[in-house]
Amino acid sequence: MGAAPVDPRSTAAWASLTRLADGFTPDLRRWFADDPERTEHLSFDAGDLRVDLSRNLLTGEVLDALVALGGEVGLPDRRDSMFRGDHINVTEDRAVLHTALRRAAGSNLEVGGADVVEEVRAVLRRIYAFADDVRSGTWRGFTGERIRTVVNIGIGGSDLGPVMAYEALKPYAHEGLECRFISNIDPTDAAEKLAGLDPATTLFIVSSKTFGTLETLTNARLSRRWLVDGIRAAAGADAVPSDEAVVARHFVAVSTALDKVAEFGIDPANAFGFWDWVGGRYSVDSAIGTSLAVAIGPERFEEFLAGFRTVDEHFQTQPIERNVPALMGLLNVWYTNFLGAQTHAVLPYAQSLHRFPAYLQQLTMESNGKRVRWDGTPVTTDTGEVFWGEPGTNGQHAFYQLIHQGTRLVPADFIAFATPAYPLVDGTTDVHELLLANFLAQTRALAFGKTADEVRAEGTDEAIVPARVFPGNRPTTSIMAPALTPSVLGQLIALYEHITFTQGVVWGIDSFDQWGVELGKQLAVQIAPALSGDDDVLAAQDTSTQAFVRYYQEHRQR
Ligand code: F6P
Repeated sequence: MGAAPVDPRSTAAWASLTRLADGFTPDLRRWFADDPERTEHLSFDAGDLRVDLSRNLLTGEVLDALVALGGEVGLPDRRDSMFRGDHINVTEDRAVLHTALRRAAGSNLEVGGADVVEEVRAVLRRIYAFADDVRSGTWRGFTGERIRTVVNIGIGGSDLGPVMAYEALKPYAHEGLECRFISNIDPTDAAEKLAGLDPATTLFIVSSKTFGTLETLTNARLSRRWLVDGIRAAAGADAVPSDEAVVARHFVAVSTALDKVAEFGIDPANAFGFWDWVGGRYSVDSAIGTSLAVAIGPERFEEFLAGFRTVDEHFQTQPIERNVPALMGLLNVWYTNFLGAQTHAVLPYAQSLHRFPAYLQQLTMESNGKRVRWDGTPVTTDTGEVFWGEPGTNGQHAFYQLIHQGTRLVPADFIAFATPAYPLVDGTTDVHELLLANFLAQTRALAFGKTADEVRAEGTDEAIVPARVFPGNRPTTSIMAPALTPSVLGQLIALYEHITFTQGVVWGIDSFDQWGVELGKQLAVQIAPALSGDDDVLAAQDTSTQAFVRYYQEHRQR
């Protein structure tokens, strides 16, 4: 176990924040009126991201105390340890080096006697050659046809990053190629994703860090059967190709466990590796992003990596008081530990980012949903909040009611882009401007609300005035960038990676393990035989489990 983390409650900054939170009465209307430069003082640039913190529940004193807290818990040292390759993932005794995945070629980082940057670049060169071959039609399927669909099979970090980034960057994707993503062990997922595809033009990428994940291996086997049967059916009775020959042209793998890839029947020559120092939820910029590299091409993928690098450099070099990920992480601590927030909404005003909240759920909640610290002792404060969200404007017509007028504090990040992916016009109206008007309106309404007098001034019947009052002082952070390019997406992901890291450091937890996912996996393997009729296994279950197994057996239609 590592050296004991600093107990954040023992710091002078925590004492200050506790004092400031006592009877804290935010008043954004007054704060903006009193300080015309509030927005200027609380707006920061991280690469292409303009980040406005001025609508947060933040006074100068709170900000100073949060900055001091970052210093007192040793955030800069811990950050440097991570970038250096120290084993800060203590429960797995691993370095945490996703930042090495996007270092510039030739920048040399020696870890354990090896230059990890050169290792990363060597894999990238192979991925880029593969991507070029698929895109150009040099890589052909078994029957000689070019590939039209790439199906990524993976789950968790081996799915959420690739699918999120593919959806976000679709306008950059190769026109003749479609990507699909199979993740769920529910057979509906494979059935629906394979529907309508031609085996002869379909290429599978089996993505699994461990190559031992039940869902992924099951879906890979289902897909291999579908592929081989499809190719055989088309070949007719005279020419029966072997499984190996078909798989060799239609299956590649991404994993750290290349021995298991070979066992599955995929030629290691068609496998792309990565390393145990890349966590699954931090792996979209490793070989796990191969489907994205095929879709958008090597040049764009390099831009994606460069975007991460821009924010890494910002995080590494800026003092905490101007360090955007550090400030946003510390603000989350303020809301979570001092103002009672239990959730955090992420609301992209960009349909292309519709999977971004789901991606962030794994990044933040698998990282910071912890109850012991990195030395094994219990945490001393509440830890990770629930992240959730949907694209605006859809969310406005669903759950914003609660954020505006409910009784809970829900800090929210609003994300928008100056340039739309598709510049459509309705008559004379630029539709993107309608979207941006909503982005601006919501953050304004949340911050400044509407008083009873303002409601009355609209001629509202007195009886319903209370229902129409907006209290305001609902905190938001607004993020805007010129456009959702590959680089900007990389910047956004790196921003949230480092926000998550910052919070984990304050709480003293290992943000890079995920033991909490294990028990359920073990029990699923134990329970499965009960469903197929093993009475001894059934008898060993609790009564609730037994009752549902019986319900299943009685109601299953075949
Ligand atoms: O079950 C959680 C998890 O281990 C995630 O951390 C990971 O991203 C996912 O499963 C998939 O794991 P793998 O890439 O090894 O298949």
